[in-house]
Amino acid sequence: MTILPAIAFAKPTNVKKGTVVIFAAQDADIVEEGIDIDPSGTLARAASAAKFKGKKKSTFEVLAPHESPAEKIIVIGLGKADELTASDWLALGGVMKKAMGDAAAVTVLAHELIGADEASTLAQGAILRSYSFKKYKTTKKDEDKDEPKAQKITIQCVEATAAKKRWADDEGVAKGVMLARDLVNEPANILGPEEFASRARALEALGVDVNVLSEKEMRKMGMGALLGVAQGSVRPPQLVVMKWNGGKAKDKPIAFIGKGVTFDTGGISIKPAGGMEDMKGDMGGAAAVTGLMHALAARKAKANVIGIIGLVENMPDGNAQRPGDIVTSMSGQTIEVINTDAEGRLVLADALTYCGQEFKPQFMINLATLTGAIMVALGKHYAGLFSNDDELAGQINEAGMSTGEKVWRMPIGPEYDKMIDSTFADMKNIGGRWGGSCTAAQFLKRFVGETPWAHLDIAGTAMASPSNDINTSWGSGFGVRLLDQMVRDAYEG
Ligand code: BES
Ligand code: MN
Ligand code: ZN
Repeated sequence: MTILPAIAFAKPTNVKKGTVVIFAAQDADIVEEGIDIDPSGTLARAASAAKFKGKKKSTFEVLAPHESPAEKIIVIGLGKADELTASDWLALGGVMKKAMGDAAAVTVLAHELIGADEASTLAQGAILRSYSFKKYKTTKKDEDKDEPKAQKITIQCVEATAAKKRWADDEGVAKGVMLARDLVNEPANILGPEEFASRARALEALGVDVNVLSEKEMRKMGMGALLGVAQGSVRPPQLVVMKWNGGKAKDKPIAFIGKGVTFDTGGISIKPAGGMEDMKGDMGGAAAVTGLMHALAARKAKANVIGIIGLVENMPDGNAQRPGDIVTSMSGQTIEVINTDAEGRLVLADALTYCGQEFKPQFMINLATLTGAIMVALGKHYAGLFSNDDELAGQINEAGMSTGEKVWRMPIGPEYDKMIDSTFADMKNIGGRWGGSCTAAQFLKRFVGETPWAHLDIAGTAMASPSNDINTSWGSGFGVRLLDQMVRDAYEG
């Protein structure tokens, strides 16, 4: 368990002990009027000696002068303060957390500088940066372990009361992100389909309705595509259906669907050994959907939301499916399985069909660590966005820009559709050498009918993505903040 700092908001006062954080805009004076922690001007002299100019996200610290009530003063540069966006404040929270380390008592003097939303966002950045996954480290040095170091961060700002209210929501979202990270980081021996399903069931405590479909029930519904993937594993598949009813009874639900391959060996089309351990994270889409449901329920989102995750393990085995096998999906369409390593789309095919038929949602958005090719196309900073609906794609793109969880629109169309036609069945599960992410998306589109739909290929962003100001963990929790924001902006009243 990560030990997270306790967060508090308070109206500006004069009590300052322990570590104090203050902010400085580019080329401006550091200490604002009325902040009496540096009576002798030591800070200004030290800043000048250190050539600290208030550049955005730069930091600088001094031991507080002896006549100051504080012990240590950390100054954080803002750059051009009036141009800062929400994702800047989030990053600044992460920068601030890094600079303060484990200091027990930290007071952040934000005073008139920021409003309630920014204060809360700053706290969210600090919390997200605090996350680490070290539960299996038992013998390493102290700094490698999660020692219970209690830390309290008090943010002083004029709008403290409103900030506290906003924080109730933002903390819930942060917890959703961290739940997703935990699920992605967990090794596959500990987290198989059943174990994942029971973690999802824990969302019942937040008022989420959770229902788990067993292998038998899936067979009855004809989910031959999903079951074909699962048949090589001794661990039975699970389809988890989560419902959050925060909207009006008459509102059609919105739906999120996640690929939950708890481990992807490739099956009979087995992957090479190097780096295969990363395939414990092949449930990053399911983790994001679960984390999102946590976030929405925790902040009591005013929307009716369905979360569906298809959980399977893709293993090579005497009972595993073979290249050339033809499976019948729940939609009735048949699929020739050319490559058993293109399994995520098989799982999603049935999960999407089920979602569409059962819930007739306003839209379906699926998340999946679907293709290595998306990393070739976009690297690890953008998720691939594929959609049959420009408005939906626009909403996701907007949320991407405001949260910093960025997406880039990729094409689908008849050219790609042709590439997955099969000689023996309605389609095949791979489309040849080129455009691998696009043919994968095109495959999914065959299972969504007329419903507005978007597919996020998060293979590059959900795991092993570069550390940043608010994440230093292997699993990033990508998608939770993105879609939470999208729901807030476009689907709540
Ligand atoms: N889970 C992988 C995609 C992946 C690769 C995610 C690397 C994260 C990191 C997916 O199931 C897969 O194996 N895709 C194949 C598709 C191919 C067989 C058409 C791929 O990308 O190589
Ligand atoms: Mn695969
Ligand atoms: Zn996979």
